[in-house]
Amino acid sequence: SPENNERWFVGSIDQGTTSTRFLIFNGSGEPVAAHQMGFDSKHSHSGWHEQDPLELLQTVETCIEKAVEEFEAKGHHVSRIRSVGITSQRETLVLWDKHTGDPLYNAVVWPDTRTASLVRELKTWEGADKLQELCGLPLSTYPSSVKLLWLLRNVDSVKEAYEEGRLVFGTIDSWLIYRLNGGKDAAKGPVHVTDSTNASRTMFMNLHTLEYDDTLLSFFKLDRSKIILPKIVPSSHPTAFGWLARGPLKHIPIAGCLGDQSAALVGQCGFSPGQAKNTYGTGCFLLYNVGTEPVISKTGLLATVAYDFGQGRKPVYALEGSIAVGASGVTFLQKNIGLIQSAKEVNDVANSVPDNGGVYFVTAFSGLFAPYWIDDAKGTIFGITAHTKKGHVARATLEATCHQTAAILDAMATDSGHALDSLAVDGGLSNSDLCMQIQADISGIPVDRPAMRETTALGAAIAAGLATGVWEGLDDLREVNQEGRTVFHPQISTKERKKARAKWEQAVEMCKGWIR
Ligand code: G3P
Repeated sequence: SPENNERWFVGSIDQGTTSTRFLIFNGSGEPVAAHQMGFDSKHSHSGWHEQDPLELLQTVETCIEKAVEEFEAKGHHVSRIRSVGITSQRETLVLWDKHTGDPLYNAVVWPDTRTASLVRELKTWEGADKLQELCGLPLSTYPSSVKLLWLLRNVDSVKEAYEEGRLVFGTIDSWLIYRLNGGKDAAKGPVHVTDSTNASRTMFMNLHTLEYDDTLLSFFKLDRSKIILPKIVPSSHPTAFGWLARGPLKHIPIAGCLGDQSAALVGQCGFSPGQAKNTYGTGCFLLYNVGTEPVISKTGLLATVAYDFGQGRKPVYALEGSIAVGASGVTFLQKNIGLIQSAKEVNDVANSVPDNGGVYFVTAFSGLFAPYWIDDAKGTIFGITAHTKKGHVARATLEATCHQTAAILDAMATDSGHALDSLAVDGGLSNSDLCMQIQADISGIPVDRPAMRETTALGAAIAAGLATGVWEGLDDLREVNQEGRTVFHPQISTKERKKARAKWEQAVEMCKGWIR
């Protein structure tokens, strides 16, 4: 009831690709305290991308402590925090030892492309063409399955653990839940679970039954008796995820769990079929709610579980357009080539020129994802002349994500038979007015940005709050995050838009096939 809403708070762990946050929301879905931390990514070889699972865990625990300090300093009491939700980067894989609970290798992060040649091999295996209709994902370097296979082939400690039946598999949500629970509960054994949105990114889960599928597991030649997979549960559940074992929120239940892109759709309250959101984080991910039956794409999109609130409700599915490089394109300009001093400066530099000056930057650092799926594409800048300035490259970097979004919108219209009439956005790069105006111009539809852009964290809080009575049902959430939205309208002509999009597609064609 509204009275309850006023009194309860919900915590949200948001473990993303480049930062970890903990936020505490009130019953109206407003953040009242937050803490954010970065951590290291290791790129020891070209295309490799790893993180230390223990460091990720540490950032979560520190963020909880610091946000709770702020919460208390504002006069609130932790006993009013009803539950905690977890949302995390998806596909990223952690393997650990059943006896010690310690990682056997670094986390292999979703944009890692070390599996490119393995993927080429897998595509020739019998049954490869049947996978997508079962799990919703095409074979590529992106899902957890191919990362696991690579580790089983190449890392001795992983091979040994598998042969000895002590290899535990998890995506980041599972890893955090396992360890935040203290790893073991003497009575019931370890809490080793995942929700169906995260499981739908592994390639091991059947999208229709929401259970592990023997056809999928045997395609990857996995012996179920040798690998310990997390139990798949709904995204919202009062007891399935256990409770926090340490720190200021000790004994508070973890009651929600969603992949970060699913969480953003929930945080935007995209509960009706036909609603969509685009999250400009490290990568950029467009999810389109297709209702209670999965739609298998014919145009390079993924089918995935949007959210699964359990309690007799049917799971809801989405079509997804995944773009590997969003804000990481800006990070590249800053950290790799020093074109800008800080991420924010990209706006000033891009605004220093009126247009891209004919420069197109296909930011294919991990190959190109949706809707193209070109594993061997490499980042390529086209159209450089003696006239080219920093500003043109900065603008072309922002435009790259916007062009891929526009291509995804076209693919979605084809798959769903319905073109979006406006695009809800969130995530770090959506703070850039310039980038959002470019998006409206390139896609030709209004771009609609909420005032509160922590939608990913809000989504996980909603999943936890629904399971623990903070909100009774989706009707209680109608007003959440609706105030103060900004709408960007297209300002260029159809002719200009078509020309820019044709140039982009030409650039995509030309960045293929560059094998080192
Ligand atoms: O699929 C990867 C995605 O979940 C990562 O999201 O926001 O960390 O780029 P983000």
